Amino acid sequence: MKKVTPRQLAMKNLALGYGNQTIVPNLSLDIPTGEITAIIGPNGCGKSTLLRGVSRLLKPTKGSITLDGKPLTTYGGKEFARIVGLLPQNPIAPDGVTVADLVSRGRYPYQGLFRGNSAEDDAAVAWALEATNTMGLAERQVTELSGGQRQRVWIAMALAQQTDILLLDEPTTYLDLAHQVELLDLLAELNEVRGTTMVMVLHELNLAARAAHHLIAMKDGAIAAAGTAANVMTEQNLEKIFGLRASVTDPRADGSTVIVPHARRPVSSHGDSHVRNH
Ligand SMILES: Nc1ncnc2c1ncn2[C@@H]1O[C@H](COP(=O)(O)OP(=O)(O)OP(=O)(O)O)[C@@H](O)[C@H]1O
Ligand SMILES: [Mg+2]
Repeated sequence: MKKVTPRQLAMKNLALGYGNQTIVPNLSLDIPTGEITAIIGPNGCGKSTLLRGVSRLLKPTKGSITLDGKPLTTYGGKEFARIVGLLPQNPIAPDGVTVADLVSRGRYPYQGLFRGNSAEDDAAVAWALEATNTMGLAERQVTELSGGQRQRVWIAMALAQQTDILLLDEPTTYLDLAHQVELLDLLAELNEVRGTTMVMVLHELNLAARAAHHLIAMKDGAIAAAGTAANVMTEQNLEKIFGLRASVTDPRADGSTVIVPHARRPVSSHGDSHVRNH
C-alpha cells in the first residue's frame, strides 16, 4: 500500500465558537505527523468543535490553523478532501443510499466532472469494505443497519477517502468491545503501514491509552494535559479533568493502564441521595 505524504498540521492561538459563544478561547497545538493522537475530555469540553475547526466545517474566530505552513483556506475543496478526512460524531446517511454507494462517496475528491469510478476508486472501496468487515452489507440500505454495522460503514467511507490525515470523532461509538479493539488495531496498522496521521476523540480511556502515541486531555476548551499515556492518565488528572475518583493501575506491568473507578459511596441514612430525595 502507498505511503501518504507527511503533513504538518498546526494550530496557533486558535479560537472557535458558535455565534457569540466562545468554546475554544486560545489553543495552540502541533499535531504529531505520522502518529496517532487521542483527544479525551468530558462531554461538552470542545473536542468535536476542535475537529470541526481542523476539518474546515467551522471557521476560526481568532488565530490560525495551518497545513504545511499554509492557512487551510488556501486549499481547494477537493484538494483539501484528499489530504484531510473527517468521520463526524453523528453522521447522517441520505435515505435510500446503499452501503456500496455511501462508501464510494469517499472517492468523490478524486473524481473529475466527467469521470466516474476508476479502477483505483473501485479498489479503494473494496479494500475499505474488506478492512471494516462490511463487504457482506454492500447492497443493504444504510438506514436499515444496526448501530454498530452503520458505524463500521461510515469508517469504511472515511478509509476509502485515503487521506494523509484522518480525524475520527468517537469512531468506536456503538461498537461492542471486540469490534472496538479490532477497529483501533486496524487504524494502528494503517498508521504503521501508510504513515497516516490520525487524531481521534475517544471516551474509553483504557482504549485511548492503548491506541494512541499521544494523548491530549481537554477541559473547558483548553488543553489540560498532553503527552504519553503514563503522563496524562494519572489519578490527579482524572480527578481534575473529569472529576472522577479512580485508581490507575498497570496489572500486566507493560505500560498499559487500567482505570478502575472507586467504589460507589454507600447511601447514608440521612445522606443526599438523588433517588431518595425525589
Ligand atoms: N452547532 C452548535 N451551536 C451552538 N453551540 C454548539 C454547537 N455545537 C456544539 N455546541 C456547544 O459547544 C460546546 C462544545 O461542544 P462539543 O460538541 O465540541 O463538545 P464535545 O467535547 O465534543 O462533547 P461530547 O463528548 O459530548 O461529544 C457545548 O457546550 C455545545 O453545547
Ligand atoms: Mg463530541
